[in-house]
Amino acid sequence: MGDLKLQVKSSFRTEMFAAGLYSALADQCRRENPELGARLKKISGEEQMHGKLFRQYYFNAYKDEPGSEKLWIIIGKSAGRLIRFIPLRKKLKSLSDKEAAAVLKIEAKLKCDDDPSYQKILKRILPDEVSHAAMFGEIFN
Ligand SMILES: [Fe+2]
Ligand SMILES: [Fe+2]
Repeated sequence: MGDLKLQVKSSFRTEMFAAGLYSALADQCRRENPELGARLKKISGEEQMHGKLFRQYYFNAYKDEPGSEKLWIIIGKSAGRLIRFIPLRKKLKSLSDKEAAAVLKIEAKLKCDDDPSYQKILKRILPDEVSHAAMFGEIFN
């Protein structure tokens, strides 16, 4: 299915971009708040792992690379640096909302009968995305 191919490629990019973005945010707050820095670094690692799962799927299914891991991480890091003057609270609120939207999207995709190995990846990453969506509430409430 051509549509799934595009979806996986886009998911790969989004995950790697997120890995870079969270990594930049972790670097920015590490000094003042090491605990939050560590949490953001952990999220960054999870996003990178998700990206790798999509990359592997893409390679197995289409015998091709969905893009450059390094490049998309750099793009995410650069985006994180560009928004460094936006208050952290505001950034994390917006990211939490995006993660919540991602959870809904994954849940909707899990209801379609796609390829079982694709569904397996979605099931694997869902709990992580749920925890990312909850991050703002945990940190600020
Ligand atoms: Fe993710
Ligand atoms: Fe996430």
